[in-house]
Amino acid sequence: MPAALIMGASGDIGGAVARQLAKNGWSLYLHYHAHQAPVAALMRELAAAYPKQDFIPVAYDLTDATGLSQLTQQLFSLDAVIFAAGQTYYHLFKDTTVQELTALMRVHLLTPMALLTQLQDKLAASGRGRVVFIGSVYGGAGSAMEVAYSTVKGGQSAFVHAYAKEVASLGITVNVVAPGAVATKMNEMFDPATLAAVQAEIPAARFAQPQDVSFYVAMLLQPEAAYLTGQTLYVTGGWLQ
Ligand SMILES: NC(=O)c1ccc[n+]([C@@H]2O[C@H](COP(=O)([O-])OP(=O)(O)OC[C@H]3O[C@@H](n4cnc5c(N)ncnc54)[C@H](OP(=O)(O)O)[C@@H]3O)[C@@H](O)[C@H]2O)c1
Repeated sequence: MPAALIMGASGDIGGAVARQLAKNGWSLYLHYHAHQAPVAALMRELAAAYPKQDFIPVAYDLTDATGLSQLTQQLFSLDAVIFAAGQTYYHLFKDTTVQELTALMRVHLLTPMALLTQLQDKLAASGRGRVVFIGSVYGGAGSAMEVAYSTVKGGQSAFVHAYAKEVASLGITVNVVAPGAVATKMNEMFDPATLAAVQAEIPAARFAQPQDVSFYVAMLLQPEAAYLTGQTLYVTGGWLQ
């Protein structure tokens, strides 16, 4: 039975990825940081629906790239890692603090990269390892007011482009699924008028649901998806990219 680690399983996109992968027969390590309750609820739901699969919670703060052995020592065999954790800050770049820059770079880029150095051998063992980052359309298009966030999301795409070449011969694929605007907690900071203005710009005329994103993550984890690697797949309803 294949096993995947979902970083950010307590979030809305990570939770949708967990439900889709569990339905497809995967056992899951479900990561959270500040919010254990959504993962506890997800575990109850998935254990009841799929009693022969394993669902194991793991906690970790991705702003810390130095204590990763606390996380990796809890993992046995592993066929896939999905990075669906992340935060953003919405203001002018000139008002961005060094603490915010550091947190963004660590959570989205540095700690996932450090984690992959430790997990590569496990991912190679089956000959069909998978790495998927939930990136962003802003990583390709750029956004005012989220300049630093756009930068680290673009960094994820640059990373998969390079790393995919290094591990392709091991059977590991490395890709980004880059959503546009998704109806999740992350966008709760915006008022209804701002959200309506964004929606008016989206050709598909709606925000994505988390399931619109998890569908493509699950697709990339299929054995038949072995020949697509190093790519950024934009899932935006036609918006921006
Ligand atoms: N929503 C959108 O419109 C949108 C668009 C494009 C890309 N994305 C990307 O999609 C991913 C998931 O976002 P979402 O919309 O599902 O947001 P969400 O519901 O707010 O979930 C955010 C997730 O990130 C985790 N997280 C935050 N800070 C962390 C830290 N320091 N250490 C470890 N985990 C941390 C949270 O864990 P806890 O809650 O347990 O702390 C949670 O699991 C992010 O990478 C985001 O950039 C979102």
